[in-house]
Amino acid sequence: MAEVLLSQVQKRFGAVQVIHGIDLHIHDGEFVALVGPSGCGKSTLLRMIAGLETVTHGRIHIGGRDVTDLDPKDRDIAMVFQNYALYPHMTVAANMGFSLEHRGRPKAEIAERVRWAADILGLAQLLDRYPRQLSGGQRQRVAMGRAIVRNPQVFLFDEPLSNLDAKLRIVMRGEIKGLHQRLKTTTVYVTHDQVEAMTMADRIVVLNAGKVEQAGSPLDLFDRPANQFVAGFIGSPAMNFIRGRCTSDGFETAGARVPIAPAALMQEWREVILGIRPEHFEISTASEGVATQVLLVEPLGSETQLTLQLGDTQVIALFHERLTVAPGDMLHVRPKPGAVHMFEPATGIRMESRPLIPS
Ligand SMILES: Nc1ncnc2c1ncn2[C@@H]1O[C@H](COP(=O)(O)OP(=O)(O)OP(=O)(O)O)[C@@H](O)[C@H]1O
Ligand SMILES: [Mg+2]
Repeated sequence: MAEVLLSQVQKRFGAVQVIHGIDLHIHDGEFVALVGPSGCGKSTLLRMIAGLETVTHGRIHIGGRDVTDLDPKDRDIAMVFQNYALYPHMTVAANMGFSLEHRGRPKAEIAERVRWAADILGLAQLLDRYPRQLSGGQRQRVAMGRAIVRNPQVFLFDEPLSNLDAKLRIVMRGEIKGLHQRLKTTTVYVTHDQVEAMTMADRIVVLNAGKVEQAGSPLDLFDRPANQFVAGFIGSPAMNFIRGRCTSDGFETAGARVPIAPAALMQEWREVILGIRPEHFEISTASEGVATQVLLVEPLGSETQLTLQLGDTQVIALFHERLTVAPGDMLHVRPKPGAVHMFEPATGIRMESRPLIPS
């Protein structure tokens, strides 16, 4: 069993507390993505799991063992960094075999493990090359090869794809996910890219300022964000937020009234923040929708992204079709049924909708 258990983990650098008591249970074989804005403590948390950073308070267990005070080399983990950190004077094969050699494994075993990893990663033809003779994607693969040859209990990735161009990132994303499906090694993957987290992870942990905002499956977080922070962080383009209040038949914001199915409404006259994802607007008739003015039209080929003035608020709306609209046009839109979120203005916490008339 190689589950990873964090109990009340805290980290202080001098007087500055950057991780505030995190509890997290990562299951054996699970792929967990840690996401959050820059500086929220993702790398620090990962480095504590790896043993590259001391733990100020709390305990870390890997595979049932308390590793809090163990050296990185004794934790049976392998870490892949953003900058690969390959040895430039060593061939691909030597880079991949280095950690096994360092541990004094027999030459035949090293050669066999390197060949096995090279086959999995499509590096078999490149074993005699030096890092400078490789493309970015190939270097990234070597860095992963170096991690998998040891067959560790846990893989730790810190933004491994951020140095690659957008296209290659998508290819490598698929490769890492495929690798996890084959090896089923427990994986903790740090990224600030929520799309990467959504597409790769079994479970996403959203961090903000050293605290867990929410942990759940990608679709859980997308469909039922626990608060405004998670709602704004997961999903691209980001969710729109409109401040206003519920009325008996809709939602009123400065300068506009948004029609919403009664079932989604809160207690009448309650102040709320309404959340609508860009793809959850639909074009409607004048009587059923809210009038908006088109500010910006961005055709994306298969989709059209519009910036709309809705009352006092600017919102982004994404339509999976080509629209013939131009800046200045008036457009009536409404939220799709069941697709709105409500958050409490003071705390940003999700509000559960209750039918106005209890059944
Ligand atoms: N060695 C250190 N000494 C002092 N402060 C540090 C140290 N390492 C990190 N920090 C601080 O801890 C906080 C968290 O940093 P961390 O690198 O974990 O963030 P991150 O979420 O990985 O950000 P990014 O997405 O930019 O990589 C930051 O405010 C950072 O300045
Ligand atoms: Mg980082």
